[in-house]
Amino acid sequence: MNQLNNEQLNKDIVVLSIESSCDETSAAVVKNGREVLSNVIATQIDIHKRYGGVVPEIASRNHVDCIYNVITEALDEANVKLEDIDLVAATYGPGLVGALLVGLSTAKAMAFSANKPFLGVHHIEGHIAANYVTHKELEPPYICLVVSGGHSNLVYVKDYTEFEILGRTRDDAVGEAFDKVSRVIGLEYPGGPKIDKLAKEGTPSYKLPKTFFEDSLDFSFSGIKTAVINLVHKEGEKIRVPDLCASFEESITDVLLNNLLKACELKGTNKVALAGGVSANSYLRSRLDKMGKENNLLIYYPELKLCTDNAAMIGAAAYFDYINGKTSSWDLNAVPYLKLGDKLRK
Ligand code: KG4
Ligand code: ZN
Repeated sequence: MNQLNNEQLNKDIVVLSIESSCDETSAAVVKNGREVLSNVIATQIDIHKRYGGVVPEIASRNHVDCIYNVITEALDEANVKLEDIDLVAATYGPGLVGALLVGLSTAKAMAFSANKPFLGVHHIEGHIAANYVTHKELEPPYICLVVSGGHSNLVYVKDYTEFEILGRTRDDAVGEAFDKVSRVIGLEYPGGPKIDKLAKEGTPSYKLPKTFFEDSLDFSFSGIKTAVINLVHKEGEKIRVPDLCASFEESITDVLLNNLLKACELKGTNKVALAGGVSANSYLRSRLDKMGKENNLLIYYPELKLCTDNAAMIGAAAYFDYINGKTSSWDLNAVPYLKLGDKLRK
């Protein structure tokens, strides 16, 4: 770890970042961790839709096909050349190993050929850092609820590069539960946005389970998922889909916000951020706003485009690591099951 010298710290730091951990190929140019000069996202949703979820091998192949164009477009849109870049960064985990390797290898090759430093970024740290782009004034410490397709974590963000996990899911991630429930009721992948829309036309009239753990801020969403599957099989054609969507969202949100409030009490903070794909959910946002008013909390969400996977969030996280003296060595590998707080970086 080499601390940057004063001259390096006083100049603008421009990061070229790449994200390819799942089904979005994305490249961005980000200045000083908060200013997005470009953020190009090529989504594969239409390709995976017909299979009802992401097919890892197909995802890797598509990343290979489009990564070059995505990076070229990001540099062109930002009007910068590779030689103007201070750092090349890419997600190295968690995610699908084949998909991660595409972005990671490309970033290393570009950095090596241009004689620039390279940095591997933790995908979840990226989701959290999306908030720094949307809220220029946001500074740690705060509590962040990270809810995405692959992760559900309640995190105490002590500092820009220091995280303490206060709770995590013991089984399914929240987004995974949204996607599985939506599949059972016949909606297309990804189900989150579709449930979000349908729930607005319904009322939460089905009673679904909520799991709370004594003495723990962990989550569990497999029970509610199974309850919905059983209900759909039992009711058949009679099922009221909008009401089911509203009931599902209500139960999930009750659990998330209950633990979030407890985390604030535990850490004595009133600053709260959301992150990850599910933070785009309009019901979750409106309930959090309400809870914020009732409990005098300061609430931050990333703008919608930065909630789901994108490279700008990776560029933001990379900046804070880099100014703290971190870079990665060329032999950094993809780590599919990387946990938040695991500092496997070399
Ligand atoms: O963060 P993300 O792009 O990928 C992961 O890192 O996993 O999150 C994708 C997840 C999917 O499960 C998708 O259904 C969910 O975010 N999602 C939503 C909404 N938009 C995306 N879930 C609920 N409501 C939404 N509006
Ligand atoms: Zn993600």
